[in-house]
Amino acid sequence: MINKKVGIIGVGNVGSTLAYTLASKGICSNIVLKDIRENIVQAMALDISQSANAAKSHTVVRSASSGKDLEGCDVVVITAGLPRTPGMSRDDLLLKNASIMQSVMDDIKTYASNAIIVVVSNPLDAMVYSALKISGFPREQIVGMAGILDSARMSHFILEKLGYGAGQVESSVMGGHGDDMVPLPNFSTVAGVPLSEVLSAEDIQEIVDKTKNGGLQIVKLLETGSAYYAPAHATSLMVEAILHNQKKIYPCAVMLDGEYGHENIVSGVPVMLGSKGVEKIIELNLNEEQAKLFASSVASVRELTTTLDTKFFN
Ligand code: NAI
Ligand code: 2OP
Repeated sequence: MINKKVGIIGVGNVGSTLAYTLASKGICSNIVLKDIRENIVQAMALDISQSANAAKSHTVVRSASSGKDLEGCDVVVITAGLPRTPGMSRDDLLLKNASIMQSVMDDIKTYASNAIIVVVSNPLDAMVYSALKISGFPREQIVGMAGILDSARMSHFILEKLGYGAGQVESSVMGGHGDDMVPLPNFSTVAGVPLSEVLSAEDIQEIVDKTKNGGLQIVKLLETGSAYYAPAHATSLMVEAILHNQKKIYPCAVMLDGEYGHENIVSGVPVMLGSKGVEKIIELNLNEEQAKLFASSVASVRELTTTLDTKFFN
């Protein structure tokens, strides 16, 4: 049993599935759920806490009645956000979600300023940037979830193409959580065997394209929302690595300060996660083409952060 508390702000599809995953596995002793939908969050807390009892897990789940209930959190996960609705531009959504981030980070600063923050809300890299700017927290303390999800999607498509190697595929994806993310086939393996040994260049390109389109594929099928099982599981791995000081290496969105030749911008890179949050940033030796793709992904995120700097943080 580990005596740790996790806060989840935004208890929709991803937040509730994350709480269920953490509680079922008994990854922490306490979870507090916070959402503007008060009755729903109370129902979720009861239901998930009861499921933990059925699973004989020690995790207790409660709903928060105010930001004060975040006190004592070791990790706070932010999945609060609004979806884009008809008539809303990308910039409108960006600014709306930045203002949600403002209210959420104000609570965290007041009541849980020592917690490690895991951001899930979209647009992911811009929301990590916002959380950092709003709070003034050090970059080690705020980390975004996307790379584990995008890598899991790549592993799925590799397995689908190969037809063997289940559970043995290791994929690597870097860059922003957008259309120009950078899947890295040459850093991906099946049981240690390089992808190029088992798949043709054509097949690999198809996997890269499917990975980039992975989120959208699910949005189109669901029609009223986006993926949540894989995002929640990916987030649970990050929470576990932090709470249990596992020092695992995962691709995560962090503020770059010269790494990969970029600064004052958030992007997905391999990091080591432990109880202090982002304990190390690992710099892969990218080839010229990959470095170019990474720079172009960074440039897309910079368009969003420039909008934030001029219209939100001015
Ligand atoms: P959802 O719509 O089911 O849940 C969002 C929740 O946020 C709702 O319950 C809403 O009431 C709540 N909320 C809104 N404003 C709030 C506030 N000020 N304080 C507290 N709660 C607030 O959405 P879903 O599917 O759970 O996704 C959540 C976010 O995560 C979205 O922005 C989505 O795009 C993003 N996402 C990111 C992924 C990634 O890889 N980074 C993967 C999947 C989702
Ligand atoms: C996803 O990739 C919508 O960012 C979300 O599924």
